[in-house]
Amino acid sequence: MRILLYTGKGGVGKTTVAAATGMLLASRGLKTLVMSVDAAHSLFDAFDLDLKLTDMNRGNPLPVAPNLWIQEVDVTEEIQRHWPDISGYVTALLAVTGVEEVLAEELAIFPGMEEVSALLYVNRYAREKAFDVLILDCAPTGESLRFISIPPTLDWYMKKLYRLQRSILKVARPVAQTVTNLPLPTDRTFENIEALAGKLEGVDALLKDPRTTTVRLVTNPEKIVFRETQRAFMYFGLYGFTVDAVIINRILPEDVNDPFFDQWRKTQEKFLEEAKRYFDPVPIWTLPLQPDQVVGRPGLDELGRLLYGESDPVSSYRSQAPYRFQKRGSAYTLTMDLPFVEKDEIDLAVAGADLIVRIGNFRHHVPLPRTLSGYSPSRARAERGSLTVQFEPARGAVAGGVE
Ligand SMILES: Nc1ncnc2c1ncn2[C@@H]1O[C@H](COP(=O)(O)OP(=O)(O)OP(=O)(O)O)[C@@H](O)[C@H]1O
Ligand SMILES: [Mg+2]
Repeated sequence: MRILLYTGKGGVGKTTVAAATGMLLASRGLKTLVMSVDAAHSLFDAFDLDLKLTDMNRGNPLPVAPNLWIQEVDVTEEIQRHWPDISGYVTALLAVTGVEEVLAEELAIFPGMEEVSALLYVNRYAREKAFDVLILDCAPTGESLRFISIPPTLDWYMKKLYRLQRSILKVARPVAQTVTNLPLPTDRTFENIEALAGKLEGVDALLKDPRTTTVRLVTNPEKIVFRETQRAFMYFGLYGFTVDAVIINRILPEDVNDPFFDQWRKTQEKFLEEAKRYFDPVPIWTLPLQPDQVVGRPGLDELGRLLYGESDPVSSYRSQAPYRFQKRGSAYTLTMDLPFVEKDEIDLAVAGADLIVRIGNFRHHVPLPRTLSGYSPSRARAERGSLTVQFEPARGAVAGGVE
């Protein structure tokens, strides 16, 4: 099963593009599910469906066209269905932070629940090979990043803390309970966590394998939206996700000649050019602003054809994340693909939270992940089309030249 993840800043057109992609793939004979991972669902609206949902179909995939299903994960429904797993997980997480257990259960619909529920579906559909393509209509960037960070976090918890906690409590529960008022995870909680972890097992690898999953960043050709896209691009790389296309939506059509739009056109051209430079070699796909909002199947159909033409939305257009951060001992290394560059052309500097890579007159800002605040670049090396920068915990050492 191929997984396509569409994300970007709020309102850029993620749901519309995800829905249009679904329409196109289904029309080409692929069994396709578009699933909304955003708590503020708008997938039904994009298809212009005014459905009276029943208990039977709420939260489940609904057929909307031949080969095409859509699903808005219903978190209340999910909690009932997966209650033992999820409530146990939440209770334990909140218990660790010291929230009373009763309150923790009341707080069961907390941020992150949609994401966990959606991940359970992703893994299940992949295991069951239920669809040829799963399209994820994601929440705006920040939440999407939380979504993709859940499996590694849970994995970390299971590896590092779970066994330790469980074995300590097994021996020391009576003692522990006399010295703290905090609720301690029960055996049942541990069983729930383990069951949940089991159901999510493998999803991280699935999402990080560019042959299965690639991310498409939807953006608009404007400064503020564009800057967020750059950061998203880097952060997805940081989490090991492969962005294989950037979709620039709402470009003014050529035949709009009203002078009112002159400056808009210049701004858009500037950001289009910048996008090609910045994201290279990731392909840039463009979509014109339509004469009206794009709602309902005919409009989505048209948009899908405009976006992809004859090309195949299912291909992986990149097989390797362009930036790779790796931890080696106490140091981090950043590896960037920089084809066609000679090492003595590269100059490095750090400004605020960015690493600035200068090549000739061209300056490349690489926003650094928060994990690296307090780190300084200590060494940089360029070879065979890639730049590797090493970061050490010490402050002060700022790289200048490149070996
Ligand atoms: N190319 C386009 N031309 C005209 N209208 C568009 C285009 N793309 C999207 N729209 C319209 O813009 C609005 C917002 O689009 P959409 O809901 O897809 O954005 P989103 O990124 O999913 O938003 P959210 O962050 O709220 O999930 C919708 O009314 C949609 O029909
Ligand atoms: Mg949306």
